[in-house]
Amino acid sequence: MGSDKGILTGKKILLGVTGGIAVYKAVELVRLFKGLGAAVRVVMTENACQFVTPLTFQAISGEKVLTDLFDPASELAIGHIELARWADVLVVAPATANTIAKIAHGIADDYLTTVVVAATCKVLVCPAMNTKMYQNPVTQNNLELLKGYGYCVIGPGKGELACGDKGPGRLEDLEIIAEHVISALTQKSLEGKRVLVTAGPTWEAFDPVRFFTNPSSGKMGYAMAKIAWRRGADVTLVSGPTWLDAPHGVKCKKVKSAEEMCDAVVAEYGDTDIVVMAAAVSDYRPKHFTPSKIKKGEDDVVLEMIRNPDILKKLGSAKVHQILVGFAAETDELIENAREKLVSKNLDMIVANDVSAPQAGFRCDTNIVKILYKSGEIEELPCMSKEDLASEIWDRIENL
Ligand SMILES: Cc1cc2nc3c(=O)[nH]c(=O)nc-3n(C[C@H](O)[C@H](O)[C@H](O)COP(=O)(O)O)c2cc1C
Repeated sequence: MGSDKGILTGKKILLGVTGGIAVYKAVELVRLFKGLGAAVRVVMTENACQFVTPLTFQAISGEKVLTDLFDPASELAIGHIELARWADVLVVAPATANTIAKIAHGIADDYLTTVVVAATCKVLVCPAMNTKMYQNPVTQNNLELLKGYGYCVIGPGKGELACGDKGPGRLEDLEIIAEHVISALTQKSLEGKRVLVTAGPTWEAFDPVRFFTNPSSGKMGYAMAKIAWRRGADVTLVSGPTWLDAPHGVKCKKVKSAEEMCDAVVAEYGDTDIVVMAAAVSDYRPKHFTPSKIKKGEDDVVLEMIRNPDILKKLGSAKVHQILVGFAAETDELIENAREKLVSKNLDMIVANDVSAPQAGFRCDTNIVKILYKSGEIEELPCMSKEDLASEIWDRIENL
């Protein structure tokens, strides 16, 4: 989320808070939305005010909190219909069983439920309740009704609940809720597309505890996968070993060696529309793998290295309808090497970065790249965060 700072600048989020124990988490949610740059207004049910006062939400949002539908002063400042129109997205978090039931049946008997009925924007409902309340068939039916009407139901998460029960019913993680809000506010330009992204380094082992690798962190590929999911794609990420958490909504297949990565990518390729190969795949691996740890001796050791499969080349020669995008990490002759790769591997586009430049390449949070197209055109992009760069690259892939 840190890298998404300001991403919701200019967006308006209306947060509906209902009377569950998780109300205190909704305070943090307001902070999170504001940190992303959004303007936030809060509507609370009367029962939510039993848990946390409107004053707290007012202090954090910087706006008057709306609670009473019939308060003449509030209605004069901003009417409930006007508020419904104001919102780009409406998030009900936490959503009690009671409010879910009311929304599912079009009941509009307080400020929040009236605004929900009047809203034409996307509405995200985040249930939070005791497991038995959640599993009650009436609640389950109500949630199904909501989905059928086009509401987006997020969570609940599983785990230990405030009442001591264990199971589903926890308010979904706030970062996941925020991720859905960002997705709801992102144009679905990749809807219906199957995207395959590779990321991270590979490990080429020569005994059970030692391997050859490179300093790739996986950040660029993970950012590409994350932005594709936000734009509505069905995303599979094939990742070498990294410390990163898989982006929300993305299917992540973990592999270690180049051969494993090759198998995983080839298995997905037929059904894929767009492939983005951002992994730093090792070109060579040790010829022999010793099943037990190699013991230290007096003599030097010579390891023989053999070629790994060239995944991009394989995909390029088997290309049917797929768009194929490669990355070239180079230290010399950036353009020449990238151009050679673009042509010899039958790519549609290649993103070239000089990994020896400061603020670029491995491990950095920023990158500086040049994009080479089949037409011969070269486009130079300024230094930016890997998330922003991922958006820029996707804009260009969509234009291909
Ligand atoms: C201490 C306490 C905690 C509660 N926690 C929840 C909860 O997490 N989820 C829920 O659906 N209801 C919970 N309830 C019950 C709701 O407060 C109750 O159903 C209320 O009518 C909800 O009103 P609202 O939906 O208008 O906010 C709790 C009640 C109490 C007294």
